[in-house]
Amino acid sequence: MGSLEIVTYPDKFLRQPTKPLENIDGDVQKLIEKMGVTMYSASGAGLAAIQVGCDKSIIVYDAFPGDEEKRFLEVLINPKMIASEGSRLSENEGCLSVPDFKADVRRAAAVLVEGVDREGNPVRMERDDFLAIVLQHEIDHLNGTLFIDRISSLKRELYKRRVRKNLRKK
Ligand code: NI
Repeated sequence: MGSLEIVTYPDKFLRQPTKPLENIDGDVQKLIEKMGVTMYSASGAGLAAIQVGCDKSIIVYDAFPGDEEKRFLEVLINPKMIASEGSRLSENEGCLSVPDFKADVRRAAAVLVEGVDREGNPVRMERDDFLAIVLQHEIDHLNGTLFIDRISSLKRELYKRRVRKNLRKK
């Protein structure tokens, strides 16, 4: 199964809020599988459907994406941030839709998230580890927010300038 094409900044598609998924059918299962393949082959730890051209509220992520023994594709449909607590700096946060750029981002230290899994079962989880950052990053995507929106305007301008330059070269 091939990878899906990843939508990248500054494509406006990434900016729209996603819609709740109502029916977890066979097409959705296929999409989830392809999102997994896409995420692993791009060496990412998380991916939102909006990044592969689907405006539904679906995210996939994995705590051990680089370890073929431990890797397990987690899926959350219609996830919601119920509560968050504390503050920490993510180290070298990146995004498959924001190529060649990493930054430390101010994030909550712990999150409480609710959603449903790919079988439609309700999920409620608290995380205060690496996945707490991943969940915040992916749920941001579902609201049209990118991690570069959460860094200093100076750093963001430097990145934007680089992107514009590269687009001109093409
Ligand atoms: Ni991302």
